[in-house]
Amino acid sequence: MKILAIETSCDETACAIVEDGWKVHANVIASSLDLHKQTGGVVPEVAARAHIEAIFPVVQEALNGQNPKEYIDAIAVTTEPGLLTSLLVGKETAKWLAYLWEKPLVEVNHIRGHVYANWLERDPQMNPIQFPIICLSVSGGHNDLILMKDHQNWEILGRSQDDAAGEAFDKVARILGLGYPGGPEIEQQAKIFLQMAPLLEEDLLLRFPRAWLNENNSNKWDGSSYDFSFSGLKSEVLREVDKRSNGGQLHAQDISEIAYAFQDAVFDALITKATGAAKVFEAKELHIAGGVSANQFFRTRLEERSRELGVRLRWPSDMKFCTDNAAMIGAAAFWQNQL
Ligand code: KG4
Ligand code: ZN
Repeated sequence: MKILAIETSCDETACAIVEDGWKVHANVIASSLDLHKQTGGVVPEVAARAHIEAIFPVVQEALNGQNPKEYIDAIAVTTEPGLLTSLLVGKETAKWLAYLWEKPLVEVNHIRGHVYANWLERDPQMNPIQFPIICLSVSGGHNDLILMKDHQNWEILGRSQDDAAGEAFDKVARILGLGYPGGPEIEQQAKIFLQMAPLLEEDLLLRFPRAWLNENNSNKWDGSSYDFSFSGLKSEVLREVDKRSNGGQLHAQDISEIAYAFQDAVFDALITKATGAAKVFEAKELHIAGGVSANQFFRTRLEERSRELGVRLRWPSDMKFCTDNAAMIGAAAFWQNQL
């Protein structure tokens, strides 16, 4: 079963061909990132125009000269959540292609798509994924902690009450005068900080408060809430920047120290709650997905905790499956309908 999948929910125009929910035959991504770098974020109108220009070339490149009527069995498309005008371009295109090629059309939720990035390029015969799974899917637009008992049986245990973690990375990068997208920039600054101050004692490090969202307001996680909140952390960063810059420019050293402390606070919340859920629900596997799962600090810390817990940790088999792509949509379409 080969699915041609289309993804246009944000600034990537993507088309992929995926067989049996895991084997990727084509994965084409045209990004309008350079346009958005100029504005420091995605402008919906600009993104939608870029999708209109890119969508047919991207589909053609994915097909690579194959006759779709014979080569493809179904079409999948992201229909929510995302930027409305961007989603419409993908949805209308997919509807027309399904009509012209006489193929079934499968609508896929973008967050579900990110979760299925972990199935890509992993042969289910050789390397079967085992339920129950706790999946932490974290990107610029969403921040969800999900319990998957099987492909159909899902529960969102918690999500961000305000900014998604990726969004917080983007906003804090802007506050620190770094580029867009903020995640890789902040990760880079955190690496610089560690090189400069590898031996600093823990209690000398800058530490931002964590929003545990506990029932009893304690400053340690009490297990009562799987939700997240990152907008208060962003305000704390702003306060620290004001204090250190004193109306002038921040020193390079301050930027990297703040970036490190910010990352540390975000990952502390994400990892504590994800591993906490894995324990409570006796998960066999713990997955991370979405743009933030590309972060090396996040992966290393989670690796240690998962080892202690005895739970199998996975992240997407390739960096290109962490951020937005259409291959994950093709995988999700296959498994959600058991096509
Ligand atoms: O999944 P994605 O491509 O798009 C959305 O669905 O939002 O995720 C993009 C987000 C951005 O906010 C970006 O700053 C963040 O993922 N990101 C990272 C890293 N790479 C991308 N965050 C932290 N560390 C990274 N290395
Ligand atoms: Zn995404």
